[in-house]
Amino acid sequence: MTNYDLLLKQATELLESEPWAVSALSNLSSLIMVSLENLNWAGFYIMRDGVLTVGPFQGKPACIHIPLEKGVCGACASKDETMLVPDVHEFPGHIACDSASNSEIVVPIHSNGRVVAVLDIDSPITNRFSATDKVGLEKLARLLEEKLVW
Ligand code: SME
Repeated sequence: MTNYDLLLKQATELLESEPWAVSALSNLSSLIMVSLENLNWAGFYIMRDGVLTVGPFQGKPACIHIPLEKGVCGACASKDETMLVPDVHEFPGHIACDSASNSEIVVPIHSNGRVVAVLDIDSPITNRFSATDKVGLEKLARLLEEKLVW
């Protein structure tokens, strides 16, 4: 199981040394990839002109643009809520960037009350993500909102 206290401490240190989004999100996607077991993709989609656009990530090359009405990421951003999807094949409109993905969690990130990005994490294991992961990753999103220049 992931030690989210440690992950948040490491994330805080990374964000305090450089709050510029490109550096911070690159290191954070790496931190997530090495801290959570059984992942095949971890990274960020950033809102640009109303479309989620791929940002720093770890994993295979991914779809670049995700409209708000598409995919798990679009649902997360438009509903403004964390999407915990135990089996992506059961999710209508799921976008399969990597055919290895079987479960997914997507967490919204805000600035000035609006969704400015989402944190997207995929696993090849069905039902990989728990309520504990949701709580820990939402705390990470709050930290990003506080520390980053969006
Ligand atoms: N599966 C996502 C698309 C992004 S990839 O997982 C990196 C979705 O349905 O929104």
